[in-house]
Formats: sequence, C-alpha cells, structure tokens
Amino acid sequence: MRIAVVGSGYVGLVTGTCFADMGHEVLLVDNNDQKLAELGSGDVPIHERFLPELLARHRGKKIKFSNDLQAAVRACDAIFIAVGTPATDRGDADLSYVESVAREIAGAVDSYKIVVEKSTVPVYTSQWIRTVIIRNGANPASFDLASNPEFLREGTAVTDFLYPDRIVVGVESDRCAQVLREIYAPLTSGDYYSRADAIPRPDRAQIPPRLIITSTRSAELIKHASNAFLAMKISFINAVASICESVGANVQQVCDGIGSDSRIGPRFLNPGIGYGGSCFPKDLMAFRAVAKECGYDFRLLDEVMRINEDQRHRFLKKVRSVLWTLRGKRLGVLGLAFKGGTDDIRESPAILLVQELLREGCHICAHDPAAMDRAKEVLPASVEYTSGPYEAATGADALLILTEWEEFAGLELDRLRNLLKYPIVIDGRNLYDPAVMSAHGFSYYSVGRPETLTEDSTAAVRPDKRHIF
Ligand code: UDX
Ligand code: UDX
Repeated sequence: MRIAVVGSGYVGLVTGTCFADMGHEVLLVDNNDQKLAELGSGDVPIHERFLPELLARHRGKKIKFSNDLQAAVRACDAIFIAVGTPATDRGDADLSYVESVAREIAGAVDSYKIVVEKSTVPVYTSQWIRTVIIRNGANPASFDLASNPEFLREGTAVTDFLYPDRIVVGVESDRCAQVLREIYAPLTSGDYYSRADAIPRPDRAQIPPRLIITSTRSAELIKHASNAFLAMKISFINAVASICESVGANVQQVCDGIGSDSRIGPRFLNPGIGYGGSCFPKDLMAFRAVAKECGYDFRLLDEVMRINEDQRHRFLKKVRSVLWTLRGKRLGVLGLAFKGGTDDIRESPAILLVQELLREGCHICAHDPAAMDRAKEVLPASVEYTSGPYEAATGADALLILTEWEEFAGLELDRLRNLLKYPIVIDGRNLYDPAVMSAHGFSYYSVGRPETLTEDSTAAVRPDKRHIF
C-alpha cells in the first residue's frame, strides 16, 4: 500500500517507519525542512528503541521524506494525519494544524483516498475534517475519513506499534474498512511476526493483535477514554499512597494486594511524583473540554488532574521536612525526562520540581541519560549537569530520584553513600526497597512507604509527622 504520513513528530515518525517495516511504501511529509533534512541525512531526532535500526533499513527505499503534501496525497492511497494537537490555554485541543493539513489535502484528491486521523483528536473531529475537505473543493465521493488512534508509549513506541494490544479503526464505509484491513494485514495475519528480521516480541504480546472496527466517533472516544482511565489509575494509587503515609501502611503491599485482582491488574499502579508527558495532561484537559461541549460535566477528570498536581507539592513538602531549610542546599537530582526510557521533558514532573527547588534557592546537580540537552533549553544556566548519577550525588546534602530510569534502580549503594555529604535519598519513583536502603545506612524517603532513618529520629522534630511514643 502507498501511504502518506503527515507530521514527523513522536507519532508520525514511528508510524511511518513501522508501516515501512510492515512492507508499505511510505512518504513521510513535514512542513519543517530542517527536520526533513535531519531525517534524510540519517539523524534520528527522537529517542526511541529500534527506530534508528528501522530507519536505516528503510530510508530512501520503503520510506522517503517530503515537504510536498499535495504531491504525496496524489501519489498515495491513504493519508495519515499525525500533526501536533497541543492544548490551548483554555485546555481544549488546538486543531488548527489538523485543519490546515485537511485544507491542503482537499486540493490534491484526484482519485479515491482514505484520510486517517492518527493524532489524538476530540470526538467529532473526523466530521470536521470531512467538511473542510469538501468545502475546499474535493468531491465527497472521492474520499473517506477514518480514525485510527495510536496507543504508543514513549520509549517503547516502535514495539507498541508492531505488537499492539489492539488496533482500533473507526470508519464510515466498508470500502474504507477494507483499505485499513489491508494496511494492517501484515500484523493481523501474523505474517510480520514470522519474519526473521521482525523486531523482538515483548513478553505480553497478543499475537496476532485484534483489529477492532468501530464508528469514527467511537474510535475517537476510545483514545481519550483510554488515556483518561490510565491517568485516573495513576492518580488513584497516588491518593492511596498519601493515605498509606498518614497511617504508616506500605503502598507497595497495597498495590500487590489490589493488583492481584485480575479486574484491576498490577500495571500502571506505580505511585510517584505524578504523570507527565505530551499526552496525559493534554488529553485529559481535551477530554474534559469536549465532554462539557457535548453536555456532560466530567468532573472526575478534575480530581484526577488535581491529585496529580498535589503529588508534586507533597513531594516538595517531603524534601523540606527532611532537609529543614532549602536555601543554599546542594541537591543531586536523578532524572529530568517525564519518564524513564525517553528524552522528552514535555510536562515532566521532574522539570517542574527542579524549577520549584531552584525557586527555593537550592543548587541543583542533575543527571539524566537522555534528556539533559532538552532540559538545558528550559532550565536556568545555574543548574549543573553531570555525566553520571554518582557525580550528581557527590557532596550533595541529599539525592532526589525523580524519573524511573532503569539505570537509577541498580546503583552501587555503598559508593553512593560515601559520595553524599549526608546519607539521605528522597525517592519520587520508589526504585529501592526501604529495608535495603536502611541496611546500607541511608535515611530513605519514598512515596507511600515508611521511611528508614539512620539519624537520631527523636532529634529531627518533623512538623508534618504525628509524634508516636
Ligand atoms: C502529535 C499530537 O500532539 C498528539 O496528540 C498525537 O497523539 C500525535 O501527534 P507529536 O507527534 O508529539 O504528537 O507531535 P509533534 O512532536 O509536535 O510533531 C508534529 C509534527 O508535525 C512536527 O514535526 C511538525 O513539524 C509537523 N507539522 C505540524 C506539519 O508537518 N504540518 C503542520 O501543519 C503542523
Ligand atoms: C501514554 C499512554 O500510555 C499511551 O497509551 C498513549 O498513547 C500516550 O500516553 P506515555 O505518556 O508515552 O504514554 O507514557 P506512559 O508510560 O503512559 O507514562 C505516562 C506518565 O505516567 C509518565 O510520567 C510516567 O512516569 C507516569 N506513570 C506511568 C506513573 O506515574 N505511574 C505508572 O504506574 C505509570
């Protein structure tokens, strides 16, 4: 199949590259010539496992880059729209890029095409895209609209695309459904997975994945509802972690107890400093807004967002209650990305906390395996960056763990303790077992679990702690 993918960002680039690896002829279109030049010269602008290998395999062969959208529309059978849909300051989705792409597509529809929403868009968007394409001169019978939402997690996006739990396709005609069946046939038939050069299969892969055919509106809602549910699950366990802290319970034990119920499941029950990224925050606000427009006041989502904000404030309070005054304190910070495995700092709780700590007069010495370059663009020059976690800890009054990088979960603890000015670790992602940290002589503080103190705890009168005698 000849496929155009419009937008070579986190989603468009992965989508186009994976379509190429599935055997399709892909034209990746972008209006940013610098991005196209980077891609054409072999650079990979985002940090995604397997993406460099697949791009090297298909660049110039199965995947080509272009800034000529209309030529791409004429040359292809299916056009996937994967341009940005950022949040406006009112919280709803800015669909102006989607509309401008739709307008441009209209002028090039010279034979039957399917136009597919890949970007996360509010329900009803496909109808607006159809209206814009017709208003701009296309024959209504010459194209069909579809919604094919992505469920890609950053850092594992290539694996998530090629080994999806399910493929959701929202269509308004059988003809359109048939084209999308053909596009995804390499996966739904299982053929892709029998190839020697297929990317490695993750443990819990569903082979072959289900193709779920729905209406376009249902598909658009599936995306928003999926992200909202996942974010709700995270805020729920963060709220439970706060209750655990108040009563001296252990949230890890609670997660084990509730997660073993097959209706709840253990995944996405990791308490921490909250969720970030370019999707959950934006998609929750967009879902809240579009629900209101449709007459439903989805206030549950307000609470999900409030708990998420509160998680960061609680963590900052914890840092204060451990260190007393913050001004002038030297803090080692592990993690700047919004989660482990990515270089993306969009809506990163780690970045937001570092900015708060800087406002309190702390001196920050940070390390992140992939996100430091992007962080330097948004943080003040006073922040120090180090080549590794041990350098960040050297001479620090405390070490803060803010992003769940695997690299941070297996540090040499004795070496770490000797480098710190005080053996204090405040872990926002629960990467360590408190008993292990205690055995290595750390005062260890985490989220929803009892702290381990090596100092004389009676000396530290903790304002936020009830006195248990
Ligand atoms: C975007 C949406 O933000 C997200 O909600 C959706 O789920 C997937 O698409 P992302 O890929 O991260 O996510 O967007 P971004 O990284 O901003 O990339 C968008 C790309 O589209 C950029 O390369 C931009 O240059 C390009 N673009 C934008 C166009 O080619 N044409 C346009 O008119 C606008
Ligand atoms: C998310 C959805 O998972 C994906 O399906 C959708 O297509 C895009 O948005 P992403 O934002 O890339 O993917 O990362 P994800 O792994 O979902 O993590 C999102 C945030 O939640 C991160 O800040 C992460 O640290 C946090 N998180 C995740 C938790 O705090 N606890 C968890 O248990 C899981």
